[in-house]
Amino acid sequence: MILSIESSCDDSAIAITKIDTNELLFHKKISQEVEHSVYGGVVPELAARLHIEALPKILEECKPYFKDLKAIAVTSAPGLSVTLMEGVTMAKALSLSLDLPLISVNHLKGHIYSLFIEKESKLPVTTLLVSGGHTQIIEVQSLTDMKIVGSTSDDSFGESFDKVAKMLGLGYPGGPVVQEYSQKGDKNRFELPIPLRQSPNIEFSYSGLKNAVRVLIIKLEKDGELTQQDKYDICACFQKTAVAHIIMKLKKYFKQVQPTRFAIVGGASANLHLRKEIDILLKAFRCDELLLAELKYCSDNAAMIGRIAVEQYKQNDFVHINEIDITPKVKVL
Ligand code: KG4
Ligand code: ZN
Repeated sequence: MILSIESSCDDSAIAITKIDTNELLFHKKISQEVEHSVYGGVVPELAARLHIEALPKILEECKPYFKDLKAIAVTSAPGLSVTLMEGVTMAKALSLSLDLPLISVNHLKGHIYSLFIEKESKLPVTTLLVSGGHTQIIEVQSLTDMKIVGSTSDDSFGESFDKVAKMLGLGYPGGPVVQEYSQKGDKNRFELPIPLRQSPNIEFSYSGLKNAVRVLIIKLEKDGELTQQDKYDICACFQKTAVAHIIMKLKKYFKQVQPTRFAIVGGASANLHLRKEIDILLKAFRCDELLLAELKYCSDNAAMIGRIAVEQYKQNDFVHINEIDITPKVKVL
């Protein structure tokens, strides 16, 4: 079995995964959404302090598995340095005290393997990763051959939902609440600009759309406080445009490359409007296999870290405790 730890942002999680069957024997996650909600986003220092409390609590429940462990895996990048440090320190301590090898896991690759929790992997697969930190199209050939073919030059898809929610005073994380508000709104009431519409490049940008929402809110507030219906309508128009941007760029990609298998991963892959629009796009391009992670494994978790760690274990991909490097890198995959 492998014990895996995730602490790259605001979720403290530990999993135990069986190496020969991929079976998930234990998974527990303690989220910090409530604590960060008042700030409208994750406060790194607070997140680190909460990991210090949560991780040992979860680890206590893992003790019965200690005797069967073959390796310790931990997310080492990308993420917030101060929070990654908490998981990495715990992993190093476990590796030393239990005399087990250490596996260093890339969080983004972990999201990709969320597709294969308790399953065999199915590769190659072109993957759209949409999370709070990333918006990327990744061509995944194998565990060690993954290529980013499109990414965002500023904010990410999930982050733009968080920012819009913050502007409307809806708390954090923004994705689920903006999606819920959108369902009650008129998606045609306001015209918002689809980012990079004229650009031939396969790249994303969300800062302009975020600013357009900010300007719209200021304009509406000139006539008095926003009504509940105004908020519903703003969310609906924003969500429609944010998804339209992704679909437009994916269309460009599909015209160049005709993938037969496609996947959506990351916290924001839970977005129902995005899922529906991608489904339509795949049908139009005769791509008949869409892989999705179970909803509970779309957001950050340790089960996906354990699942990819099984593959790394089989390839003897271990690191010495002095080799784990959590410093931010230009090359993220
Ligand atoms: O993957 P994740 O848990 O953390 C990162 O690695 O960033 O993703 C969290 C992000 C947040 O920005 C959150 O607002 C967004 O995913 N999210 C959504 C939805 N559910 C979560 N965004 C849009 N629609 C949703 N339904
Ligand atoms: Zn993530």
